[in-house]
Amino acid sequence: MKACRLKSTDATPVWFMRQAGRYLPEYRKIRKTNSMLSILKNPELSAEITAIPADKLGVDAAIIFTDIMAILYATNIEFDLKDNVGPVIRNPIRGLPQVKAIETKSVIDNVPFLSDSIKLSKNNIDVPLIGFSAAPFTLASYLIEGGSSGDFMSTKEFMYRNPTAWHSLMEKLGPLILEYLKMQIKSGVDAVQLFDSWAGCLDSYDYNTYVAKYTKGIFDGLKHYDVPTIHFGTNTSAILKDMMKAGGNVCSVDWRIGLDDAWSKIGRNTSIQGNLDPAALLGPKTYIKNKVLDIMKRANGRNGHIFNLGHGVLPETPVESIRYVVDIVHGFG
Ligand code: CP3
Repeated sequence: MKACRLKSTDATPVWFMRQAGRYLPEYRKIRKTNSMLSILKNPELSAEITAIPADKLGVDAAIIFTDIMAILYATNIEFDLKDNVGPVIRNPIRGLPQVKAIETKSVIDNVPFLSDSIKLSKNNIDVPLIGFSAAPFTLASYLIEGGSSGDFMSTKEFMYRNPTAWHSLMEKLGPLILEYLKMQIKSGVDAVQLFDSWAGCLDSYDYNTYVAKYTKGIFDGLKHYDVPTIHFGTNTSAILKDMMKAGGNVCSVDWRIGLDDAWSKIGRNTSIQGNLDPAALLGPKTYIKNKVLDIMKRANGRNGHIFNLGHGVLPETPVESIRYVVDIVHGFG
C-alpha cells in the first residue's frame, strides 16, 4: 500500500498476477471437483483460494479469486469459461441492435458472491487485498470476438466501421465497471487493478479516439475513495503515456520495455509494477536471479516499485521458482 502511494518501504513488495492458479497443487486439487465458474460463485471456496499464495509464498498482497468475466452476471450476456480455452460468449456482439439489447443490472444484487468472497478473504489474510475488473476495451474485445483473440481484427473492424455502436457499447460497459469496482471497495478491497490486458494492440490514435475517455471515467469515479488504483496492460510501450493519462496510481508494465525506460516515460509521480517475463520462471535459478536483479537495479531503490510479472503466472511454473523470486526481492532490502 505504501509503494502504491510512492512512500518508502522496508523492502520491495512483491505479488504475482494469477498467483492463485493452475501451477499450485492446492488449486488443481480444488479444480478437480469444481468448475471455474462454480468456484467464483462460491464465496468460501474462492476466499480459501485467495489466501493460499499469501500463506504459502510470502507475497505482500492477495488478489481476490474471481475472473474478469464475472461482471457479466450483472448483464443479460451469456458466457462460459472453457477449460484451456478461456471465456466464450454465446452470442458475440455484431452491431448496434445487440448493443442496445444489453441490459446492465445492479452489481450487488447479481454478483453478491464477489462481495461475500471479499469479506471472507479479508478475515483469512493479513496482507492487502486487491480487487479488479477488466477495462472497457478488454471486456468489449471478448464480447465482440466471442472469446480470446490473437489480433483483435473483429474488434478493430467494429470500432472503425461502426463507431456509433462502439461508443454506445463503451458507454454501457464503463459505468457498469465503475459500479462493480465501487462494490468491491465497499466490500473491503484495499486496492483495485484495472486489467486492460489487450489495449496494447492499439496505437495511440485509436486508444485516444475509442478507449481513453471511458477508462478515464472509471479512474475519475474512483478518485474520492482512498484506494490506490493499478492500470495494467501488455505490449503497451507505445501507449504507456496515453494509458496513464487516463488514470492509475500504479502503472503495470510487461517485459517488452525496460522498467527504467517505462518509468521515465510515465514520470516519477506514478508507481510502477510488473516487468518480469512469466517465461523467466521456467528457467534455472541462476537465470531467474539475474533477471530479478536486473529489474531491481533498474528500479534503483526508488519509492513506488512493486515487483510482479508482466502477465500471469504460467501453469507450468514450478512453485519453487515463485518462492525463490519472493526471497530475492525481499532479500534485496
Ligand atoms: O490469481 C489471480 O490473479 C486472480 C485470479 C484471476 C483469474 N482471472 C482466474 C482465472 C484474474 C486476475 C483473472 C483475470 C483475467 N481473466 C484476465 C486479465 C488478466 C490477463 O490474463 O490478461 C483475462 C484476460 C481473463 C480471461 C480468462 N479467464 C482467460 C484468458 C483464462 C485462461 C484460459 C486457460 O484455461 O488458459 C481464464 C480462466 C481463468 N481465470 C483461470 C484462472 C485461474 C484458469 C482457470 C482454470 O481452468 O482453472
